[in-house]
Amino acid sequence: METNNDDFIVVKAKENGVQVIGLTRGQDTKFHHTEKLDKGEVLIAQFTSHTSAVKIRGKAEVLTKHGKVESES
Ligand code: TRP
Repeated sequence: METNNDDFIVVKAKENGVQVIGLTRGQDTKFHHTEKLDKGEVLIAQFTSHTSAVKIRGKAEVLTKHGKVESES
């Protein structure tokens, strides 16, 4: 699968039940995967030929090449 290996994000859950939702690339923008994280769990994810955007629900710390941002619940 085609990936841009530089373009990954780190998501650290600050509460239980944080959802990391992948949205499809292309004309239709739909959810294609939801990963659930509990407090303290970390997910490292890439943007791929299938994934153009990521939505995060719940309180989490998100690191990207653009810096650090916190989502809130
Ligand atoms: N099968 C998905 C893909 O290759 C896996 C994935 C990659 C993903 N990055 C993601 C799922 C971000 C959720 C969020 O695109």
